[in-house]
Amino acid sequence: MRRQGEEPINLGTGGMTDKPIEITMVASEMFPFAKSGGLGDVVGALPAALARMGHRVCVYLPAYRAVLNEHDPGSPAQVADVFAEARYQVFSLEHGGVSIRLVAADDLFDREGFYGDARGAFPDNAERFARFARGALSHMEQEGAYPFIIHCHDWQSALVPPLLKYRCADDAKWRGVSTVFTVHNLAYQGRFHPDDFTHTRLPDEMMGVDGLEFYGDLNFMKGGILFSDAVSTVSERYAQEMQTEEQGEGLEGVVALRSSSLFGIMNGIDDAVWNPETDPHIPAPFSLARPEGKAKCKSALKAELGLDSDAEGPLCVVVSRLAHQKGIDLIIDNMDELMDLGVSLAVLGTGEEALEEGLAEAAAAHPGRVAFVSAYDEALSHRMYAGGDVLLMPSRYEPSGLNQLYAMRYGALPYVRRVGGLADSVFSSPAPDPNVDTGFHFDAFAPADFLAGMERIRRVFLDRGLWRMMMCNAMEKDSGWDGVAPRYVDLYERAMRPQPR
Ligand code: ADP
Ligand code: GLC
Repeated sequence: MRRQGEEPINLGTGGMTDKPIEITMVASEMFPFAKSGGLGDVVGALPAALARMGHRVCVYLPAYRAVLNEHDPGSPAQVADVFAEARYQVFSLEHGGVSIRLVAADDLFDREGFYGDARGAFPDNAERFARFARGALSHMEQEGAYPFIIHCHDWQSALVPPLLKYRCADDAKWRGVSTVFTVHNLAYQGRFHPDDFTHTRLPDEMMGVDGLEFYGDLNFMKGGILFSDAVSTVSERYAQEMQTEEQGEGLEGVVALRSSSLFGIMNGIDDAVWNPETDPHIPAPFSLARPEGKAKCKSALKAELGLDSDAEGPLCVVVSRLAHQKGIDLIIDNMDELMDLGVSLAVLGTGEEALEEGLAEAAAAHPGRVAFVSAYDEALSHRMYAGGDVLLMPSRYEPSGLNQLYAMRYGALPYVRRVGGLADSVFSSPAPDPNVDTGFHFDAFAPADFLAGMERIRRVFLDRGLWRMMMCNAMEKDSGWDGVAPRYVDLYERAMRPQPR
């Protein structure tokens, strides 16, 4: 790590610096330690890709109970909070060329669940993630480990940039540490009662309209967006959409203020974990050169889920958080029409009660044609992508989406709404072209558009030659993180330069 007084490195070498950059990430999820969605996948893979480029990467995570139980991080460092009277235990371990730091704060993370339980979000989440940010910065200071870049993700680590800007600004040791804040989903902002501001230990004037105040509430994400040196999100299209009233979730004005420092970088996938040739979770390996295993995976999945083996239409799969964002209601509300088109449907997901009920009812009404597994099951998710012909993703909005990337790698053609990262990553030409298309799009979030696309899919599916051509295009697409990580290095280099404000 860079010590006090050292100058930042030269910039602007197109992601290929000849000097390694010290990068510290602060995040609430990282696969395989803690994952509830795509954030876990991204933080699980991007640091390792940066490390493969020769950079030195460290990730701070909360010391969730499950992580401490499943890994043995040894004895922790005792850390005093540099912002207030509080203490932390910070555990250290190494994983895939990346240093991991697990921040324990009293009993705030020593419980089941990351953000909540069956009763809903934990009532002390503001305190939990304020302490997480303070604990991470306090540990860096205690260790004298000042990186060039602190890269924060989503609201759970969004207090780091304002803390750094306002509590450490006059501290020479921190000068030259730049921050990058990545928005993975603008809908989850970390919005709390204004009284929770006390947990941030920021000066009172920061709870104003130019600070973390948002319609009278405290808003963590607003702090991350306003006070970082550069802001990014997880696709180019979402970087534009975030600035619109329709998708800005009320923060569009705040995002627009940072538009000259806002970048969209489409997510990648960990192609060692998501590789149908070597995947230990699927019943038969397959690849472009040896595609036979795909059919075996499909019959095995159908057998596993109790779906009829002789159905002729495509097997459509869904692997998803069951949240309003994901548009699963469009599938549920048009189930009879989908059945009339001859498709089979397998859904793996957990979430909102109404969606779970709708899917359970559909499975009961269409035995052998619709299967619903209400679970979070990493291994089954691999078998779903491997066994499916089509992945359905009718999202209302989608910052990036990883499922469609996994599906393409596993030869399941994505059928997606043309929004955010789905529009950027699934190629579907205006006049369908099997030579280049990797999936299918629809535009309006409406039954007519959705079903018209399904009808088209059914027709293409019956033409095995066309279908195979599209499968090849999809499987050939390279979405590995090694191609994406250099773009983050460019972003870090920009953030390290003084930015006009
Ligand atoms: P989001 O982060 O909005 O949920 P993404 O498409 O970015 O959406 O990432 C979702 C990730 O979570 C993928 O790795 C997907 O396979 C996984 N996932 C979602 N639901 C489940 C589930 N029920 N079981 C296993 N994996 C799931
Ligand atoms: C969020 C978004 C998703 C994205 C993921 C990882 O959960 O909803 O689109 O892929 O973060 O960036």
